[in-house]
Amino acid sequence: MKAGGVLWILLQLLLWPQPGTAASSPPVMDSVIQALEELEQKVLVTEASSTASAWILSARSSSPHNSLHQHLLRKAPSHNTMETDLHSLSPELQALISEVAQHDIQDGQEYGVVLAPDGSAVAVEPLLVGLEAGLQAHSAANSPLECLAMPCDASDTLTNTGAVWPGLMDASTSASFTDGGATLPNGKAKTPTTVDRLLAVTLGRDLGLTFLNSSQARSPPGLGTEGCWNQLSAGRVFTLLDPKASRLTVAFLNGALDGALLGDHLSRASKPRPRLSCLLKEYYGAGVAGDPKFRSNFRRQNVAALTSVPTLAQQVWEALVLLQRLEPGHPQLQNKSQEELAQGATFATKEFTETFLGCPAILPRCRWGAAPYRGNPTPLRLPLGFLYVHHTYVPAPPCTTFQRCAANMRSMQRFHQNERHWNDIGYSFVVGSDGYVYEGRGWHWVGAHTRGHNSRGFGVAFVGNYTGSLPSDTALNTVRDVLPSCAIRAGHLQPDYKLLGHRQLVRSDCPGDALFNLLRTWPHFVEAEN
Ligand SMILES: *[C@@H]1O[C@H](CO)[C@@H](O)[C@H](O)[C@H]1NC(C)=O
Ligand SMILES: *[C@@H]1O[C@H](CO)[C@@H](O)[C@H](O)[C@H]1NC(C)=O
Ligand SMILES: *[C@@H]1O[C@H](CO)[C@@H](O)[C@H](O)[C@H]1NC(C)=O
Repeated sequence: MKAGGVLWILLQLLLWPQPGTAASSPPVMDSVIQALEELEQKVLVTEASSTASAWILSARSSSPHNSLHQHLLRKAPSHNTMETDLHSLSPELQALISEVAQHDIQDGQEYGVVLAPDGSAVAVEPLLVGLEAGLQAHSAANSPLECLAMPCDASDTLTNTGAVWPGLMDASTSASFTDGGATLPNGKAKTPTTVDRLLAVTLGRDLGLTFLNSSQARSPPGLGTEGCWNQLSAGRVFTLLDPKASRLTVAFLNGALDGALLGDHLSRASKPRPRLSCLLKEYYGAGVAGDPKFRSNFRRQNVAALTSVPTLAQQVWEALVLLQRLEPGHPQLQNKSQEELAQGATFATKEFTETFLGCPAILPRCRWGAAPYRGNPTPLRLPLGFLYVHHTYVPAPPCTTFQRCAANMRSMQRFHQNERHWNDIGYSFVVGSDGYVYEGRGWHWVGAHTRGHNSRGFGVAFVGNYTGSLPSDTALNTVRDVLPSCAIRAGHLQPDYKLLGHRQLVRSDCPGDALFNLLRTWPHFVEAEN
């Protein structure tokens, strides 16, 4: 069973929606992986169909935005036995796949999103597109003859240019669709690499268009908006926390980053390629022990390491330029010069990098199953001038899985509400060793973490007992650099904020000797509050 064939069948399911099927499997990543696994076990697919084709996914909708996928991803050859293959998948999985394979936002609800084992929400469509792009890049790199034999419409230069995988293009070819090699104002155009092209199909189009839609100097509303399921696990309805959110939700961006990372991995993998079910199982697997390896938990860091701002800006720009050629009547692209598109792409990339990629992934309260706040919260007067660092002490072991971290959050909230008689969990934010930050009282409400100082600063706690050992490097980096810089940019924290350990203000050993000794070496640390 070839990886590409499986993916192609999965995408084909969209063309044969099953009327009146049973209730679908729960919308979780494990179901998507299970569907892949069933196909890999049951279905015989020839190598010929291994050019899994995400354009099918797009072709189902008449929406014009999919022309980019159709041109950048090759079409799969028709496959006669496909319908039989499809029916071998259980009705529950078939229903699930047609339910989640298209990403959409309507009336504040997001569709096509599944819950991953790491607790994150992931849009399936950009993930599948990335897998597909990676598989095609692989076959292009490994069997150029097969690729050259692909039927192309030679009369249409644009189609040819768009349909040839850029891994096969040299700089002069790739410049042909950008009008003789126009360059970004602040950089030289260079040959797109595989991962860059992956970013164009997974992320570039939506990033560029969404920013072109809003006024030039402002971010579109709700870049990186989170959402909540109607149930803690296996909920069906996913409601966005900002009803005006653009398409660039956290779930969409997660799916796009995962698609880019996994696609890049596939494009480099030597034969035999890993089975997709195995690859996804490993990538989304639980238990990371703070180690930012190839896991969904660390997707932001891993994508940041894989690309750069100028490269990404160029990819966004090229996606827009190509789309403008493909859809001359596109309302957002009509009459826009390449310079205007380049400006939009540069701005979009800067905003995306600074407000999403370089920011911590914060799981909102609804995702860890927070009980409601008791009474009425007191608003903070932002920006605050202090960051107070804590360790939880109990629980003592660092949490390295979403399940464990979320359970810790619930038990700390229960303790604070029921034993301490506070209104809510005391901390503003809690940092796990799973790559995630968990929202406590958040940016806007006064916490109960540092007696006498709660309205002056945010209280941030590491899960664990750091008397004799230190949190993971990733967790430390989050509190030392990533969280504060994003909070400053968002206007929540003063640029000259001061950092203190809990014990400097309250009789306590918190945040533990080992951690406190390290804090003293950090930027913004002060020996006394005044
Ligand atoms: C741009 O705005 C129009 C009208 O407000 C909307 O219909 C369209 O979906 C938006 N496009 C994107 C990519 O956000
Ligand atoms: C683009 O330019 C054409 C011709 O100059 C004009 O008819 C059309 O209205 C313009 N479209 C937009 C969206 O400005
Ligand atoms: C915390 O760590 C210290 C030093 O390793 C140890 O002595 C203490 O018992 C631990 N406390 C808890 C609650 O685990």
